[in-house]
Amino acid sequence: MTEITRDVVIVGAGAAGLTAANQLKKAGLSVAVLEARDRVGGRLWTDTIEGAMLEIGGQWVSPDQDALKETIAELGLETFDRYRDGDSVYVGPDGVAHRFTGEMFPVSPDTERIIAEVTERLDAMVAEIDPDRPWAHPRAAEWDTISWDAWLHQQTDDDEAIRNLAFPTGSAMLTKPTHAFSLLQSLLMAASAGSYSNLVDADFILDKRVVGGLQQVPLLLAERLGDDVYLGQAVRTLEYTDAGVTAIADRMTVRARRAVLALAPVLYHRISFVPPMPRLQHQMHQHLSMGFVIKVHAVYETPFWRAQGLSGTAFSPYEISHEAYDNTNHGDERGTLVGFVSDRLADDLFRVSAAERRERILTSLSHYYGPEAMNPVVYYESDWGSEEWTRGAYAASFDLGGLHRYGADLRTPVGPIRFACSDLAGAGYQHVDGAIRMGRLVAEQIIEEIHA
Ligand code: FDA
Repeated sequence: MTEITRDVVIVGAGAAGLTAANQLKKAGLSVAVLEARDRVGGRLWTDTIEGAMLEIGGQWVSPDQDALKETIAELGLETFDRYRDGDSVYVGPDGVAHRFTGEMFPVSPDTERIIAEVTERLDAMVAEIDPDRPWAHPRAAEWDTISWDAWLHQQTDDDEAIRNLAFPTGSAMLTKPTHAFSLLQSLLMAASAGSYSNLVDADFILDKRVVGGLQQVPLLLAERLGDDVYLGQAVRTLEYTDAGVTAIADRMTVRARRAVLALAPVLYHRISFVPPMPRLQHQMHQHLSMGFVIKVHAVYETPFWRAQGLSGTAFSPYEISHEAYDNTNHGDERGTLVGFVSDRLADDLFRVSAAERRERILTSLSHYYGPEAMNPVVYYESDWGSEEWTRGAYAASFDLGGLHRYGADLRTPVGPIRFACSDLAGAGYQHVDGAIRMGRLVAEQIIEEIHA
């Protein structure tokens, strides 16, 4: 058992932990980053599967994500645009693929009017929300005690409008059933991206990717830390007093003045805290849970949909894969589609055999792109639910009522322990941008405290 002493021990080598560690080191503090896995990056993972480079975790960068964009530029990485030339596809309740261009998809004039009205209402509400303090809104308690689903049903009884308004923050972002989280949680999700309209605009929210894969961000950040990153070191026990911490991992112990917990909050309970965390944290952390989505990658000899004049952008609240996009790698001759299967549909698909799951998902993609979609040369499902050190995707959110009840305490330190993770972010919530912001924030706080 190795024993070392550092100024700060960081638990977790994802974007948040590695950002914090780099910033602390730059300020002259010594660090050790302990990572449970045998790789860095956490929910960022670029891998080659059967010869195809796939973004198994996070990949897209949107124009508002300043912290991520600065990091990408600072690391010397290049970005490229998601392919979006041509028609998009919407599958409505009739099960038919309708092509469209522009922002509005083909629904009846009445449904279109309702969607526009409710979107305007939502944008106005979102504009009043500070993503870093949604609980501070005067109507936070009211908005946090009604489910997203119930609120939408109060606005209209047009089922197609409800389904389409529900899914941008539901299946597509929080990846939980819409009855399982509040209107306030939904508004936070939208506020973290600037507006509800931004969130539904694929050209905004899914704008760019990094050439060679987004995992290069944590890989390069880790490279700068050199020997200060320790892989395969799951922290099992964290002893703490006001004076400092002792982090005990499988094969090493780190004594430090501060600890940064840079892991998904649903995993805090895997660590034994000595003394136990305060009552508030014990309670609060139980009200956060991971969403669940399967990210499906289908690689074809060519991007055949482009020849049909399709952009690859497709969605439907009636389909198993509620959204899908052209995800072809930069400079690649082969074409890649990425589709997403969320919450209860994902649960259901993991109850059937792998062959049947593949068949059902590809059939759903074929509803958007035609029969050619049934025959990819490479097929892969990212299943973060079975990853011990993540346990879901994309991130954690509060159950109904939890955000206004506990939100203000989420980032409050406990003695020498600080918390940083995309799941705790305001701006950039659930995204890499939020992870970087949280990493920067705790680093700044610790530097100030230690240098005071
Ligand atoms: P993250 O979970 O990445 O890192 C935590 C680290 O802590 C992990 O490496 C884990 O192994 C480690 N750990 C846990 N317990 C430990 C212990 N006891 N001891 C030591 N180490 C421990 N975002 C985005 O901006 N654009 C996108 O397109 C997407 N798309 C997307 C798709 C999919 C499938 C996923 C799963 C996620 C995304 N995201 C995304 C979200 C984004 O990937 C995510 O928000 C951040 O990468 C999270 O970074 P963090 O550092 O906060 O946590």
